[in-house]
Amino acid sequence: SSPSSLRIAVIAGDGIGPEVIEQAIRAAEAAVQRYSPARLEWNRLPWSTAYYKKHGHMLPPDGWDLLREHDAILFGAVGDPSVPDRITVHELLLPMRRRFDQYVNLRPAYLFAGVPCPLVGKKPGEIDLLVFRENTEGEYAPVGGRLYPETPAEVAVQTALFTRRGCERIMRAAFEAARRRPRKKVTSITKSNALIWGMGLWDAVFEDVRRDYPDVQSHSLLVDAAAMDLVRKPETFDVIVASNLFGDILTDLSAAVTGSIGLASSANINPTREYPSMFEPVHGSAPDIAGRGIANPLAAILSAGLMLDHLGLSAAAEAIRQAVAAVLAEGKVRTPDLGGSHTTTDMGNAVVAALQG
Ligand code: NAI
Ligand code: MG
Repeated sequence: SSPSSLRIAVIAGDGIGPEVIEQAIRAAEAAVQRYSPARLEWNRLPWSTAYYKKHGHMLPPDGWDLLREHDAILFGAVGDPSVPDRITVHELLLPMRRRFDQYVNLRPAYLFAGVPCPLVGKKPGEIDLLVFRENTEGEYAPVGGRLYPETPAEVAVQTALFTRRGCERIMRAAFEAARRRPRKKVTSITKSNALIWGMGLWDAVFEDVRRDYPDVQSHSLLVDAAAMDLVRKPETFDVIVASNLFGDILTDLSAAVTGSIGLASSANINPTREYPSMFEPVHGSAPDIAGRGIANPLAAILSAGLMLDHLGLSAAAEAIRQAVAAVLAEGKVRTPDLGGSHTTTDMGNAVVAALQG
């Protein structure tokens, strides 16, 4: 590999994962070729449910070391009805976020022209928000236990884990991003009225951090009110910072109000760059439509765009966004989730053609 080449680990995974990732790679190649001089090396790793059935684990024992040698990871989705999520999702995806300290889960939501919005009267670009979801602790920390299994006395304890350091670093990342956006606004999602300890710390840290950003407008909002406002007036949000659970739920909502989960991209970023960051569509493996070639690849393509941006190829990243926006605005090629009857490949072809000009 030449010094100017970037090594990307590709875990396409299960279901529609491989279908959408193939189009994401094509789009990234086309964008880089024309807009940013770099060589991308795609290292395709077969880790998936099929791999698990053959080998008894989701990734080989040296898998994490192998992944570490890459500049980034492009991920499709894992999950298959034949194997519990506790194996597929919990042995590969969730540990990766913690192991590689990918504490920023960035999920943009943007209402593109040409995309039917389920909310009445919203204009293209009117919904334009970035969710910074905490990705390594909070409600998803694997802390807890089950006692007296399968007896009437059965007990489960699930502990949410909040640290000052964990809250502070995701909040700072959100404020830094808000500073670079025209509206410069941060909304912190809380529920400290009920979750007095964990969310109490979250709020206290938010009060400390916001003082360092007097140029950014900031406020706190209860998660239930936020769910309502994301439907009632999503245009009022700019940057949202939320815990692991609240961010997870609110980003399905923000994806829904901007048209389709098939458009929702995400980045799992390790800002210190000690470890590789990982880029994936928000959606899962969609077993209900897998193998039919009708999945919308735009979420995966936009995620590849976030990856190029992270790798410093910002011209290529912007070109991907523009190409996706152009294809959607033109509206000639649409997968079924957008009300059309085109295939995954048709959509990929349209984006590649737009990138080639
Ligand atoms: P899902 O996101 O796979 O599908 C939800 C619905 O959205 C389905 O009706 C599906 O057809 C549709 N959909 C999803 N992506 C689409 C696309 N690109 N184009 C068109 N339609 C699309 O969520 P679900 O069904 O709850 O989970 C399926 C499996 O995926 C489970 O095993 C779950 O654990 C796993 N999963 C994995 C994730 C990951 O790897 N990051 C994230 C979410 C779920
Ligand atoms: Mg989710």
